[in-house]
Amino acid sequence: MVNSVQKAGASPAQWSSRFAFIMAAVGSAVGLGNIWKFPYITGENGGGAFVLVYLGCIAIIGIPIMMAEVMLGRRGGKSPIGTMQVLSRAEGRSRGWVGIGILATLASFLILSFYSVIAGWTMPYIMSAASGELSNISAETSGALFEGLLASPGQLLLWHSVFMGLTVLVSAGGVRHGLERAVTKLMPALFVLLLILVGYATTTGHFGEAVSFLFRPDFSSLTAEAVLVALGHAFFTLSLASGAMMAYGAYLNKKVSIVRTSFTVAILDTCVAMLAGLAIFPVVFAHGLAAGEGPGLIFVTLPVAFGQMPGGSFFALLFFVLLLFAAWSSSISMLESLVSHLHERGISRVKAAIGGGLVAWLIGITTLLSLNVWSDFAPLSMFERFEGKTLFDLYDYFTANIMMPLCAFLTAVFAGWVMKPEHSAAELGQRWHGVWYAVMRYFTPIAVLIVFYTNLG
Ligand code: TRP
Repeated sequence: MVNSVQKAGASPAQWSSRFAFIMAAVGSAVGLGNIWKFPYITGENGGGAFVLVYLGCIAIIGIPIMMAEVMLGRRGGKSPIGTMQVLSRAEGRSRGWVGIGILATLASFLILSFYSVIAGWTMPYIMSAASGELSNISAETSGALFEGLLASPGQLLLWHSVFMGLTVLVSAGGVRHGLERAVTKLMPALFVLLLILVGYATTTGHFGEAVSFLFRPDFSSLTAEAVLVALGHAFFTLSLASGAMMAYGAYLNKKVSIVRTSFTVAILDTCVAMLAGLAIFPVVFAHGLAAGEGPGLIFVTLPVAFGQMPGGSFFALLFFVLLLFAAWSSSISMLESLVSHLHERGISRVKAAIGGGLVAWLIGITTLLSLNVWSDFAPLSMFERFEGKTLFDLYDYFTANIMMPLCAFLTAVFAGWVMKPEHSAAELGQRWHGVWYAVMRYFTPIAVLIVFYTNLG
């Protein structure tokens, strides 16, 4: 539907309402990043001080960049690559700025490859919850269950394939109808469920400990690396610097306020991350599990919590289903930059989605193997920085710590210095434009550069 309208050259496809855009953008933003990654990197980086830096990154770097990306997307009206072609021409500048679109598309594509593997983990948990296997599970058994999953390439491959298939399915069909309809129901449901889990967490007797872990900063434990991780995660969790918001912005109605909408999306996304932290850490502390457990954190701890709740198997089932949907609505947005671009070049959405999905699936297999068979394969170990990092670690590192900051930097320079202020003001509205413009010119690029440089230096 969307495609035929675009093909016919009529008015471009649009979200049906501001609410639909918000839900799609929140669907993209809220995903494994909030519920899986945020708690575990917070645990690894010592808690409070890291959370504060992360919140700061969202507020002063993430939100202005989100506005910039949605603004660029709406103005260009195309895929990120197409949009950058249109805009660099419209501003009479070098075509080299298309590089932003290319970098963004590559980053989100690479992220999709490993995101799918992790999202796949939710499915065996859905099965275990449904079979009652999780009831009264001990922390030890839960840990063993998770390790068993990671040690099995066959199982991982199965679920990775199913998840990638689901992503391709929606992407092939066009974003608006399938996705819009799904996210407007699922995102509110996820929110309610998280609130219930937080409610349960207050009964563990360790809620206060979790609150102080999350919100009482101890700056002595903060490292430069942690600041970069926080910045990288701010981009990741808001789906920035990777084309998703640009691609979705292209479908946004001209009348909608980009400033207000971006705030709403960022605030909802942040709330979900905080709720996830508040749901998970009390359980971690109550069972004497390690906060710095790593990527297994929620998969090991939550089954323990659910296992002891009355009706826990049901809640566990619901939780992992919703996590799957949250990841699904994110992965679709990762494929969108590429699919919408290929579609502009005359390839059907179906073919573009299948082709893109297939390549991402193949790359994903290398991630999957680095969890078991290739767990000792650290190809860049000759560099101290990359010592012991598996392929999966490297993909994660390069996208979150290098490609996304770089892409965000270039986006800020384009929006703040290359694009004429009249043009950005026409999209963002006069009222907020001045502040945004100053931030975009002087603050954002410099802040990103400093963090980047400190870490590389
Ligand atoms: N924001 C999502 C999450 O937190 C991940 C995501 C969706 C994403 N789209 C993206 C990350 C594009 C990078 C690029 O799980």
